Amino acid sequence: MKTLIVYFSFSGNNELLAKDVAKDLEADLLQITEPKKRGIFRIMLDMLFNRFPKINELNILWDEYHHIVLMAPIWNYIIAHPMKTFIKKSKEDLKNYSFITLCSGRDTQKEKIAAQLEKLARYEPKVIIEFETRTFITPEQESKGAYKVTQEDLTRLKKADAYHNFLETYITKKETA
Ligand SMILES: Cc1cc2nc3c(=O)[nH]c(=O)nc-3n(C[C@H](O)[C@H](O)[C@H](O)COP(=O)(O)O)c2cc1C
Repeated sequence: MKTLIVYFSFSGNNELLAKDVAKDLEADLLQITEPKKRGIFRIMLDMLFNRFPKINELNILWDEYHHIVLMAPIWNYIIAHPMKTFIKKSKEDLKNYSFITLCSGRDTQKEKIAAQLEKLARYEPKVIIEFETRTFITPEQESKGAYKVTQEDLTRLKKADAYHNFLETYITKKETA
């Protein structure tokens, strides 16, 4: 049994993280893509109207995986809308899953993510992890707009206890499965 990572990324941060975590967990990796090109204007409209945008079909052999890891950015406290569409569509199959985001970081955001997952999915996530860029970038860097994480940033972020515990749990499960 294996782990599958399903990710969505607009500006590349969650993609970089997803590829890294896939190596750590020796997981398969699938990207959520959309038939329509996305720009900041579509993000704004999705946020404004709480939309579920169309995504391209992903053919997942659910029985092959014991754990699914979802990864996406957060937009105005909301899980990026293409990921919301995926979760809604896959709610019956998302039994043993976790949610990880690489985001700027805001207070009380984790509770809001948990509440959204409770509404969208049938089952509760095993783990929610927020990797927050606000923990290491300066307010000046933040004010310049979307921050692009580097491999060094990821190495630093992944030192978090929450991620160590996560790896311990899921690498062990993989070996014993
Ligand atoms: C329109 C917009 C709204 C955002 N809102 C939030 C937010 O509410 N909370 C947060 O932590 N980060 C927020 N961010 C920051 C992104 O989550 C962060 O830049 C993320 O790393 C981008 O991931 P990506 O490069 O994979 O698309 C926002 C970014 C954009 C573009």
